[in-house]
Amino acid sequence: MELLCCPNSALRSSICIILISVFGTCSALKLTAPSPAIHGIEGQPLTLPINYDLNVPVSAVQIIWLLERPPAPPAYLLTSINHTFIPDLEFQHKFTMNLPNASLLINSLHVSDEGNYTVKVNIQGQTTLSATQKIEVTVHVPVSQPVIDSEPSYGTVENVGNLTFKCHVSKGTRVIYEWLKNGSPLQNSSSYIFSRDKSIFTIAPVMKTDIGNYSCLASNYISEMESDVIAPIIYYGPYGLRVISDKGFKVGEVFTISNGESVRFDCSADSNPPNTCAWIQRGNNSTEIVNYGPYFKLLSEKVRQKTVDYLCRAYNNITGKGEETQFTVIITPIDPEKLSLIPSSLSPLAAITGVSLFVIFSICFIFVWKKYQLHRAIQWKLQPRRPSTEYRRTPIYSGHEDAINDFGIYEFVSLPDSTAPHRVITPSSNSLQIHDINGTVYEVIQFVPEQMQNDPQP
Ligand SMILES: *[C@@H]1O[C@H](CO)[C@@H](O)[C@H](O)[C@H]1NC(C)=O
Ligand SMILES: *[C@@H]1O[C@H](CO)[C@@H](O)[C@H](O)[C@H]1NC(C)=O
Ligand SMILES: *[C@@H]1O[C@H](CO)[C@@H](O)[C@H](O)[C@H]1NC(C)=O
Ligand SMILES: *[C@@H]1O[C@H](CO)[C@@H](O)[C@H](O)[C@H]1NC(C)=O
Ligand SMILES: *[C@@H]1O[C@H](CO)[C@@H](O)[C@H](O)[C@H]1NC(C)=O
Ligand SMILES: *[C@@H]1O[C@H](CO)[C@@H](O)[C@H](O)[C@H]1NC(C)=O
Ligand SMILES: *[C@@H]1O[C@H](CO)[C@@H](O)[C@H](O)[C@H]1NC(C)=O
Ligand SMILES: *[C@@H]1O[C@H](CO)[C@@H](O)[C@H](O)[C@H]1NC(C)=O
Ligand SMILES: *[C@@H]1O[C@H](CO)[C@@H](O)[C@H](O)[C@H]1NC(C)=O
Ligand SMILES: *[C@@H]1O[C@H](CO)[C@@H](O)[C@H](O)[C@H]1NC(C)=O
Repeated sequence: MELLCCPNSALRSSICIILISVFGTCSALKLTAPSPAIHGIEGQPLTLPINYDLNVPVSAVQIIWLLERPPAPPAYLLTSINHTFIPDLEFQHKFTMNLPNASLLINSLHVSDEGNYTVKVNIQGQTTLSATQKIEVTVHVPVSQPVIDSEPSYGTVENVGNLTFKCHVSKGTRVIYEWLKNGSPLQNSSSYIFSRDKSIFTIAPVMKTDIGNYSCLASNYISEMESDVIAPIIYYGPYGLRVISDKGFKVGEVFTISNGESVRFDCSADSNPPNTCAWIQRGNNSTEIVNYGPYFKLLSEKVRQKTVDYLCRAYNNITGKGEETQFTVIITPIDPEKLSLIPSSLSPLAAITGVSLFVIFSICFIFVWKKYQLHRAIQWKLQPRRPSTEYRRTPIYSGHEDAINDFGIYEFVSLPDSTAPHRVITPSSNSLQIHDINGTVYEVIQFVPEQMQNDPQP
């Protein structure tokens, strides 16, 4: 008798024991596990499928299931002899066997059920054969919705402060954390620092560009949950300070306003929190604070000079940063009556309208002129080549090949040719020519519809 054992195939992990008997017959015990690793969900039942084939007459079949959970010693779960299931009293409500195959049924999975499950099948015939198979079971707990704690929660100053987000889940096994900004995965940045499992995310230092909606995505093999969005408060600025007015012209930093007007100047800058503004009037040698606040009203009558320099100084009291911009106000003397008649704000509009109208009229004039020139040129070309008799019979086309399309359209063309013989009406065609006293030939082309052609022509 000879016993051969084929080594495990890595993927199928099946053990094959081939028995070649002395009588030359061949029989085998084949034990297979369709999946060597199984993922289960806590609280749900799980089946560990096992199949065995035997082609040898046997007197007894024994199936044993064991659980290895290091460092605990292997636990005996259940057994079956001759297709009779014998539970272990400790686990009788937990494990059952799916006879006649050797599959194990776990009623309700628990995290502690994780481990390597080993099945051993013994057969007794002329000789005793046994085979084992191992299935690794992993139990997963679905993740709960993650929660983000941010530090500091009250706000961070750009370029100075750091921001830390901590993401945690109350339930879930083997959780993988990911971070999203405005719904998309974070772009790489040198200011980002992650903890090893990525559950802690730090931005150091914080920039204005870090403003956004952050969320944390917690996932594992069986589930995925996203946290609520958190929008950190980041203090920054002021940036891009500029001054705008509600009246007058602005060229660069120079405002031109009319005498008698009262103008409001607004200071606008990108800043969080909104900056405070101080408005400063610059004299020859002195500076004078004329107002505090986001805007400043200038009453032009109250200003003695024609040109005044002002300074707007914006200050963010949290970032401690400021910016200032200078602007000049020129007060132009304008007659108050004229001012009321022609509001200065209308002048650019009027200019644009005037220019537009001029352009439109010019284009129209050129178009009409070109068309007139074209007719002249055609008539001039046609006339000298033809004898007068033929000319009289031939309809004259003035740029139109088909007169039928020209129903109701009359064209009046002057032919400045005094050499042509005197002609009167030529009723044979649809065109008529009139020779006036001064020798100018006028040609009238007319198309008359069918029913009207019987009428006497003029
Ligand atoms: C084992 O037997 C049960 C019931 O007879 C059957 O439902 C199951 O599919 C079998 N398992 C395998 C892996 O063949
Ligand atoms: C199993 O069945 C065989 C005969 O079919 C018998 O000889 C053997 O004793 C049985 N084993 C047990 C444990 O009942
Ligand atoms: C199961 O066995 C494999 C080796 O075959 C081992 O790597 C793994 O850690 C074991 N699993 C458990 C839960 O003990
Ligand atoms: C911010 O983080 C940097 C680098 O981790 C550290 O050097 C700095 O002290 C931190 N600043 C604050 C205010 O915590
Ligand atoms: C971002 O960083 C990861 C890991 O450091 C790297 O694999 C990836 O290519 C980087 N992506 C970009 C756009 O730099
Ligand atoms: C962040 O979310 C708020 C409302 O939840 C939304 O108004 C805002 O536009 C979002 N910001 C960005 C940058 O998507
Ligand atoms: C500044 O000096 C000029 C002459 O140098 C003078 O005309 C003007 O009135 C002065 N302005 C003020 C505010 O004193
Ligand atoms: C401005 O101040 C300087 C010295 O600070 C002085 O010499 C000059 O006379 C002053 N000019 C005017 C217009 O007050
Ligand atoms: C900072 O400025 C804001 C807005 O102008 C104001 O509401 C706040 O009271 C100021 N805080 C301090 C400490 O001055
Ligand atoms: C035709 O000639 C008459 C006098 O000879 C003149 O009064 C009239 O203006 C001329 N007409 C044209 C169109 O030249």
